[in-house]
Amino acid sequence: MQSFNHFLREKGVSGELRSLLYHIARSVKYINFSLRAGNTGKNQSQNASGEDQLKLDVMADHIIMDELEKSELAALIISEEQDQVIKFPAPRGTFSVSYDPLDGSSLVDANLAIGSIFGIWEGDQLIGTTGRKSMIASCYAVYGPRVIFVIAVKDKGVHQFELNDVGEFILVEEALHIKPDSKYFSPGNLRATAGNEKYLTLVQSWIAEARTLRYSGGMVPDIHHILCKSEGIFSYPRDQKHEHGKLRLLFECAPFSLVAEEAGGTSLDQEGMPILDLEISDPHERTPIFIGSKNDVEKSIAVLQ
Ligand code: AHG
Ligand code: MN
Ligand code: MN
Repeated sequence: MQSFNHFLREKGVSGELRSLLYHIARSVKYINFSLRAGNTGKNQSQNASGEDQLKLDVMADHIIMDELEKSELAALIISEEQDQVIKFPAPRGTFSVSYDPLDGSSLVDANLAIGSIFGIWEGDQLIGTTGRKSMIASCYAVYGPRVIFVIAVKDKGVHQFELNDVGEFILVEEALHIKPDSKYFSPGNLRATAGNEKYLTLVQSWIAEARTLRYSGGMVPDIHHILCKSEGIFSYPRDQKHEHGKLRLLFECAPFSLVAEEAGGTSLDQEGMPILDLEISDPHERTPIFIGSKNDVEKSIAVLQ
């Protein structure tokens, strides 16, 4: 039984990063409690992307913000649910944290698995940098029948922890990996097939190959499935109305791209550019994403050109 702090110390992860992860993990425990006890209704407000907010979106956002402030390690934070970046006054650490407090809000009433996603960046400047240059770790939580916390640290792999009955995250699997080819597919934004024949061809090729569909409508459980089975592809292309797709670079795509690359998979935009090499121009910008088994992702991009 190894707690994540002990495990990461043995891997040589710095005390500061472990401490920041400890605070993020604390927020995950509070969010998990709120999900089970809280109000699942709408908040009558919209976020920076113009999407309706649930009371739980706002609550999860505040839980994380408070916890990151308490950590005294984050100089700057930016949330999917906030218009502006928040700079904490010095003296602070040198990390920035980008986060999606609750991913899959539209699944809350249906009681499907949802999650939280975090990107951890070196320095207090996100605009103009890339995930490759500045992201040092990322993590996500899955709130399902069990609570899972997965941490990727640059050059130190991806590791899975599970919340136990006394509130500790215990290692369940180290060094998760993604094989180059897969028998699963997780095709997001199928609406795009209506205007994009190439995406239709791609999805039809997956069906013709008699692949197994694994798609929940929540990016966190859908990509977590790929990590658990060590194979799979998740796609979310642009469509006619949404030229950059739906998923956000800082809160969703970049953190999962570090996870995928650290596990030996890949993550590309619709033109084949690694998501980790995209330069950040706006905190709320979006990007199409194809992520998971390397050969599958590369072949998909080739079909789409
Ligand atoms: P969020 O709840 O943070 O807004 O994100 C939901 C995302 C993601 O989890 C999922 O893959 C995608 O939205 C599904 O989009 P559609 O509803 O367009 O299918
Ligand atoms: Mn999301
Ligand atoms: Mn969200």
